[in-house]
Amino acid sequence: MEIEEIKTSFANISYRLEDYEHHLDDNMFAGRTDMMKQGMAVNIRVLERTCKAITDFLAEQPRKDNALAWSSVKSGFTCHDMLPYFYQDWFGTPEFAKVENLFSKTITEHCKDWESVAVLGSGACGLLYSVADDFQVSYGVDLSLSTLLVAKQFIQGEPLVFHLQRADWHKVELTPPASTANEIHYVVSDVLNMPFVSGSLSVVITQYMLDFISNPIRLTEEIYRVLKPGGLWINFSNPCRLPSDPIELGRRKLNELPVFFEKMGFDVLSMENERFALLNLEKIYSEAGNNQQLVHFFTLRKNENDSNIPADDRSIQRFFNRNDSVWREIPRIVKGRELALARKKLFGEQGARREVLEISVGGRSFSIPADFALLLETTLAGVDGKNSLRQIYTGVYEKGIGLTEDVFLQLIYVLHVQHYLIELED
Ligand SMILES: C[S@@+](CC[C@H](N)C(=O)[O-])C[C@H]1O[C@@H](n2cnc3c(N)ncnc32)[C@H](O)[C@@H]1O
Repeated sequence: MEIEEIKTSFANISYRLEDYEHHLDDNMFAGRTDMMKQGMAVNIRVLERTCKAITDFLAEQPRKDNALAWSSVKSGFTCHDMLPYFYQDWFGTPEFAKVENLFSKTITEHCKDWESVAVLGSGACGLLYSVADDFQVSYGVDLSLSTLLVAKQFIQGEPLVFHLQRADWHKVELTPPASTANEIHYVVSDVLNMPFVSGSLSVVITQYMLDFISNPIRLTEEIYRVLKPGGLWINFSNPCRLPSDPIELGRRKLNELPVFFEKMGFDVLSMENERFALLNLEKIYSEAGNNQQLVHFFTLRKNENDSNIPADDRSIQRFFNRNDSVWREIPRIVKGRELALARKKLFGEQGARREVLEISVGGRSFSIPADFALLLETTLAGVDGKNSLRQIYTGVYEKGIGLTEDVFLQLIYVLHVQHYLIELED
């Protein structure tokens, strides 16, 4: 689906460019249009080649639409969105060198146990590769399968060539790094519910993750769960806002963070404001802007003695294992995390009309299939702070939407854990 969506959007761009070319006598944009067309073709080939094993496998399978599986991997970042991060991590940018240096210094200074590290939302995996030499086992965790596949094939020795849309489609050629002796695993998972045994990791790293994750409190709990007592969490991200904070005050200041992390079972080892030029393309593109931004860089240690920390008593497993009490829970929409469903009518050049269904959550929008939109609309219409999950499910069922109890609970999982749109009360 991801590849098909990109192909359609590139086909529309090509169609419009050709239309211009047709009407212009003297095409002064010819150089740029050619680069753009070449860039789109190259980028599609990168995605198709990387995902070939998956598309071949799926072509052999009987088609089974599963709106929920789809909704649970939509993070708002496609592999194509991530290409500028591949440039940032692997083109020898000063920005990446700065990040690498900060992490390496803090690991050397504070790390006591070098067994395992997990980089959450590892994206282009530059930081993962950079720390992998220090640890026996390293895990790159990301929701985007296609991004991890591109990163894995590159780290394993395949050169990567693509064009950067944000840099007027300039070409970027990346040479793979030297092979590393230590184990690297690429894990496709939501960072809010990871497949690691509790208390098993020496270090967790987050870079540009805490600032946009739907629920930073849940992420903090999950990192606390997977770290060994005494394990390190190192973070580099824009300031974040906790769901319980007043919306009007915006994101937290550095000095407002320790009290939260201490309550969550961490000791603060260091905390500083840094500046970072995110996705700075100046090295390859003279007309690039320089997006300097404020970043919170901190290192925390999970308490050696974690017995005082209240465990999350209502486990995530309740959405997957048969359990009667979950049906009595009452959902309400989380303050400040409203969801917008939009039915857009697009009128194109030939007056042709297309309808697109879109969903927007936390500032990100993406198109969704019609059956999922109906399910979502009906489910959320029942969320009024009084109806229990059982009552809402009955309402959905009576509307003629054929949906098993198991699938409904998975939808609630997606809404509650993944997108953090609803809270649940007993
Ligand atoms: C802004 S990018 C940052 C990538 C990398 N950490 C960096 O700073 O270069 C965010 C990455 O997190 C991934 N991501 C977003 N939500 C996620 C989630 N809930 N679980 C796992 N990965 C997620 C995206 O696929 C993307 O690769």
